[in-house]
Amino acid sequence: AGAAGAGGLVVGAAGGAVGASMASDDGGSGARLTSLGTTAVPFHGTRQPGITTPAQARTVLVAYDLEPGTDRAGTAALMRRWSDTAARLGRGERPDADGQVALDAGPSSLTATFGFGGSLFDKLGLADRRPGALKALPSFPDEELDATRSDGDMLVQVCGDDALVCFHAVRTLQRLARGVARVRWQMTGFTRSPGATLRPMTHRNLMGQVDGTGNPQTGDADFDAKIFIGDEGAAGGAAWARGGSYVVVRRIRMLLDAWDDLDVPAQEHVIGRRKDTGAPVTGGDERTEPDYGRRGPDGRLVIAENAHIRVSAPEFNRDATMLRRGYSYHDGFRPDGTPDAGLLFIAWQADPRQGFVPVQQKLARGDALSAFVRHETSGLFVAPPGCPEGRYVGQELLE
Ligand code: HEM
Repeated sequence: AGAAGAGGLVVGAAGGAVGASMASDDGGSGARLTSLGTTAVPFHGTRQPGITTPAQARTVLVAYDLEPGTDRAGTAALMRRWSDTAARLGRGERPDADGQVALDAGPSSLTATFGFGGSLFDKLGLADRRPGALKALPSFPDEELDATRSDGDMLVQVCGDDALVCFHAVRTLQRLARGVARVRWQMTGFTRSPGATLRPMTHRNLMGQVDGTGNPQTGDADFDAKIFIGDEGAAGGAAWARGGSYVVVRRIRMLLDAWDDLDVPAQEHVIGRRKDTGAPVTGGDERTEPDYGRRGPDGRLVIAENAHIRVSAPEFNRDATMLRRGYSYHDGFRPDGTPDAGLLFIAWQADPRQGFVPVQQKLARGDALSAFVRHETSGLFVAPPGCPEGRYVGQELLE
């Protein structure tokens, strides 16, 4: 899922020193091998990073539960430690003695994005500040959810272009949580590395499809209203959430053996887009609008009634819009020999009741893709707005 958004920023001072030391290993030519390591994404700002940031090559999602007895002050102190550390890691600093894992690397576009689950508000006695849209998601037909890998009091989404840098960040944040919060579940995802293709392209998922084309773009007039929480969503006691966003996380296993049994035209029929270019099956290129009314010589709709793009597109869902910023996962093979692989579906939106929920209700009933996927885990979290320097994420809620 190729997310739209402002690009990472290539830093001069802090990252430059790292780049120089990286270049000393290149055989003496002094040329920098790549700018991948030196690219830094600022942590502070009105939005948290990792939402509109173009998808980095890796993600590690870690959900935490508060330890019994953790109160609001303890949670606030953790969020301060986490925010300060995420900002420093994002600049490529190594804030503790255990920085060796990532010692030679630059920031590598590292981002950490924090979210709160509904259970956190109950545990901290903050039910009156819980935003209205942070409700348990309804159940959907045919899902097979594993409760132990679903939900959680807090979510940390770490993304970066280097696996060691990501591990280091995850481990550093986890150490800071000791005694306050415990890891509930973790998932690791990947997508294409920058530079793997000659020019930047929309990513492919593990079914081989170009995935992310239909995403809203940051330049769209209604982008902020659709993706970030506005006045309405921040009503009642939830004023602290204004400028934040909801994220739905679903681990969706792909039944890849069954999928591979389809020939390419049949696969394209399921989605409504071509596999090679990502163009609609009604013609053109990736950016051409699908012609949903077009019928073939047999009188049938060329983009089938149950094609994934027709069932999910905003124009057929009362404008329901999400920013899909998912990652692939592959965790080996299951006892029956099939791949344990699929999509870590990660979708950001201003209100899941007008985004994910109605769309998934429709997909679960009438999407041709449903026969080839299984939803295995589920989570809904509210990500507070970003914070300026000197403050921490979630401060308006917790202080
Ligand atoms: C579009 C794949 C699950 C919502 C697409 C496209 C592909 C795709 C290939 C077309 C390219 C694009 O616009 O990105 C998949 C796969 C899934 C999955 C493989 C599961 C493993 C979901 C779920 C939802 C969803 C669970 C939401 C509940 C959408 C939306 C679009 C889309 C909104 C854009 C439609 C448009 O406006 O053209 N998906 N998808 N997808 N998908 Fe999915």
